[in-house]
Amino acid sequence: MAETFSAARLSPEKAARYAELAEEIRAVLEGEPDPIARMATVSSMLAAAFPQFLWTGFYRVDPRRSDELVIGPYQGQLGCLRIAFGRGVCGTSAADRRVLIVPDVDAFEGHIACDSRSRSEIVLPVLDAAGELLGVLDVDSADLATFDETDASGLQSILSTTFGTSTA
Ligand code: SME
Repeated sequence: MAETFSAARLSPEKAARYAELAEEIRAVLEGEPDPIARMATVSSMLAAAFPQFLWTGFYRVDPRRSDELVIGPYQGQLGCLRIAFGRGVCGTSAADRRVLIVPDVDAFEGHIACDSRSRSEIVLPVLDAAGELLGVLDVDSADLATFDETDASGLQSILSTTFGTSTA
């Protein structure tokens, strides 16, 4: 019954909202190659599209220290400035280059609490067109278990269109 379970976890309305948002982001960013401008736009438009998102933003691989993430554009309360690879949800996602869905941040060993209201989060690696790791996208929610496969696939699609294709 794995298929039934998986289908039940997918939300058609949420998927439609992500598809709409992906198109809006694509239109706004048309012709803009600067990665910081692109990150700032994605974090702002994500926060506006999903009001339950408490914090939406990027940690970038520090060009001066390739084992550390440094804060990038974000919307929300003050985030910590640096996260070492392998630390917290963001550092683990960056080190392993994998999407992490955390339904309850208190149950994630080593979670870094920037905003005490955050109860669940999703973090995705951000790759450029050459497959190089640019950083991670972190989205936090004040509710438990906000994120599922629909968010993972909606966000993944926005990230690969925005950062994983040549903008030249
Ligand atoms: N919770 C993240 C830290 C970043 S903030 O929540 C903005 C983590 O554990 O990596």
